[in-house]
Order: sequence, then C-alpha cells, then structure tokens
Amino acid sequence: MKNRKQKNLWASRFDSPVSEKLIDFTESISTDVRLASYDIRGSLAHLEMLGRMRIIPSGEQQKIRQGLIRIGQEIRKGSFRFEKDNEDVHMNIEKALIRKIGPVGGKLHTARSRNDQVAVDTKMYLKDEIADIISLLTALIERLVQVAEKNKNVIIPSYTHLQQAQPVSAGHYFLSYAWQIKRDIVNFQESFRQADVLPLGVGAVAGVNYPNDRRFMAEKLGFSEVTENSIDTVSDRDYQAHFLFSASLCQIHLSRLAEDLIIYNTTEFGYIELDDAFTTGSSIMPNKKNPDILELIRGKTGRMSANLFALLTVLKGLPSAYNRDLQEDKPILFDSCDWIKKNISVMTALLGHLKLNRERLQDSLDRNFILATDLADYLVGKKVPFREAHSITGNIIKDCIRKKKIFTDLSLAEFRKFSKAFGEDVGKVFDYSRSIQKKSSTGGTGLSEVSKNINVLKKTIKGLRKNSLRK
Ligand code: ARG
Repeated sequence: MKNRKQKNLWASRFDSPVSEKLIDFTESISTDVRLASYDIRGSLAHLEMLGRMRIIPSGEQQKIRQGLIRIGQEIRKGSFRFEKDNEDVHMNIEKALIRKIGPVGGKLHTARSRNDQVAVDTKMYLKDEIADIISLLTALIERLVQVAEKNKNVIIPSYTHLQQAQPVSAGHYFLSYAWQIKRDIVNFQESFRQADVLPLGVGAVAGVNYPNDRRFMAEKLGFSEVTENSIDTVSDRDYQAHFLFSASLCQIHLSRLAEDLIIYNTTEFGYIELDDAFTTGSSIMPNKKNPDILELIRGKTGRMSANLFALLTVLKGLPSAYNRDLQEDKPILFDSCDWIKKNISVMTALLGHLKLNRERLQDSLDRNFILATDLADYLVGKKVPFREAHSITGNIIKDCIRKKKIFTDLSLAEFRKFSKAFGEDVGKVFDYSRSIQKKSSTGGTGLSEVSKNINVLKKTIKGLRKNSLRK
C-alpha cells in the first residue's frame, strides 16, 4: 500500500492507512464540492455561536474566521484545491483551515459533527434551489397567461380520450397548465418549509457536551425553526423526498404539455407551429423539423421519477440515525435540481415562440361533430329530457357518418325526421363562439371565466414575485 501524503482527520485510531480503493469508493468531494459556499457559511455561524458561548475565546475566533473567509475567497476564485484524500467538502475545508492558521483551526469542529454539518449545508443549498425553481415556475405561469390572453379568442377542440370533445378557447386550454404549475409551486413551498428547520447543533446523534445556542445559528443562517430531536435530525431526508416528489410531479406536468404540443405539431394535426429556434433537423431526411426539446422534456420525466425512487430506496430499511448510505442523497438531489430548472426554463422559452394555425384548427372543428353536446342541449331547451336528446343526437350523427355529411349539411326537414322538437332556430347551435359563451359555469371555457382565471393568476404572479423566497 502506498503511503498517503495526507492523513485523514480521523486517522489516529487506526494502525495503518486506508486503501486507495477505499478513498476512491467513499469520497464524496466530487459531488458535494457544490456545497462548499454553504459549508463556509455554516461554519461561520457555528464559530460565532461558539464565541458567544465562550467556548472559543474571541482572539481565536477571529483567527478562525479570517481563515474561513480566505478559504471562501479561494473557492470562489477557483484556486482552492479539493482533494479526494480528504473525503468530502467538510474535511477538505477543515484541513485547509488547519493548514492555513495552525492547530487552532482544529477548534472549529468543537460541538459539531459532520452529520449535522452535512445536514445544514444540504438544507441551505436546497432552500436556495427551491427559491430559484419557484421563480422559474412563476415565469412559466406568466408565459402561459400571456399565451392564453393572446389566444383567448382562438377556438380549439378539447379532447378526452384523445377524441374531439367540445370546443374551448385556446386561452382556457393554456391556463389549464398554469393551474397545474400553480399547484407545483404550492408543493415546492411545502418542500421549502420542511427544509427550513435548522439541524446544526445536534452533533453526531445525541446532542453535544456544550451549552449551544441553536436559535442564534438559525437566525444567522436564515432558518425559521430548529429541529427538536437529535437522532431524527441527523437522518432526516424527508424534506428531500418531498422535494423530489414535487419535482417529479412538476416534470410530469411539463411532460404532458410537451406531449400535447408534439401531437399538435404533427403534420396530421398541424394546430401549432414550433419556432425554428426550438426544433432540430435530421442528418438524413432533409424534410424533418423535429420537436426534440419537447421529446427530451418528456423523456426527462423518467429520470426525475427515478430520482424520487432512488432516494426512497436509500431510506428504506435504514437503521436509526446517520448511516453512510445517506451520502447517496446528493447526486440524486443535485441531478433533479439541475434538470427541473433547465426543463422549466426551456419550456417557458419555447412557449414564447408558439404559433397557432387558426385555419387548421377551424378545419378540424368543422370536420367533426364537436357541437353534438350543444345540439343535445338545444333539444333539452325544447323540453326533451337530456337522455332522450342524447340518443336523438347520436342517431343524427350515425346517419350523417353513413351519408358522409356534417350537421350543417342537414336541412330543417332532415333534423325534424329525428325529432319534432327541432325548429328554425337549430342553425344557431352551429356557432363555436356561441357554444363557448354558453359555458358560463364556474371554471368553464366561457370567456368571462377565462378572463377571471387570467386575473387570478396575474395576482398570484404578483404575490409570488413580492414574496420571493430567495434572500
Ligand atoms: N460525506 C458525508 C455525507 O455526505 C458527510 C457526513 C459523514 N459523516 C460520517 N459520519 N461519516 O453524508
């Protein structure tokens, strides 16, 4: 075995150095290096608390503080050298501190363990990420509201079972996704609330042998509360599971929107046109203009849900308190943070360049029996019981299909063959705008409801911007 140039901070209890293989296998610095700035902030708060509690005298506190600040500067500049031999971000920084300011640097870890240290770093990191995700989602809602407002008067077919159902305002359709995203924001706010509880100061598992002031550290680090049980604290990753669920569900919403747009963008539908800037070509087929971005958004859903299950599986069957398995949380968490942000912002950008093809939409509405429910309701207006009206309309459609006709090809006499309740005014039914205006029920596609939706969502956006979680 090679003689390591650096010994681990915990090496004294061992007779011989660890194997190269162990170093490679157990290190987490290649991942948790991302937490470096949070680690410094956490250490500064812990240090100040130790000073206030007179655990470290003020002169030494200043020295350690200067050392940490200098390390922080080196990390920002990119001149700090993180080494695998030092296992993780916490030990890399602590070792550098001792190297810089001498043995007094070793006092920093008084009344602290890496178990509460990694917990506080990760919670701080995730709180910032969630705040960023919520502002990206706010921008996405804003974009959906813009698209809805612009296309409020465009009438499109709505679908159930991917079969044409009833005409709706395009605005109403786009807002349906804004509401899903609004629920995602509520989920992420809850994830934030769960992360917003300070774990620092519980030590390795049992608490620490010093009087400490955890509320002071919470205040310093921007946490609303402090955790109440040390054993639970060092192994709690529930807030991450909640976050990964929120991210998975949000990704599923993006994926469903992506799927709609992929379908509407096909030659067969042709309802929308994606901008050149957001489509790709084929290396062999010159005719292709592919919706790869949307396909990748849809595809990333697998990864996002897998991350949730990966963490749940790490947690399953763990014995009480900290176990090294928990180090596996970070690659999962970081991956979901990175991709959810990219997916939200690329979807927002793409929606900004979306064009609706009104002619194709109109043509598609005309070729189908999308006003069938309105026709049945017309008969209901003539006192025909709905169930009967439904059946009469069904018979008309069957006949039309046989004769290759649509509703508007039929004369009044032909309508009356199916029911004497039909009168002159039946022609009025075949007006898409009228159909939409008649949907005055709360939450329907009636334009006053669509406008109400837009106003509520605009207020939501304003509120979210005013109360941004990013400090
Ligand atoms: N790198 C570790 C992690 O990410 C830090 C905590 C290590 N604690 C321990 N007792 N080995 O979980």
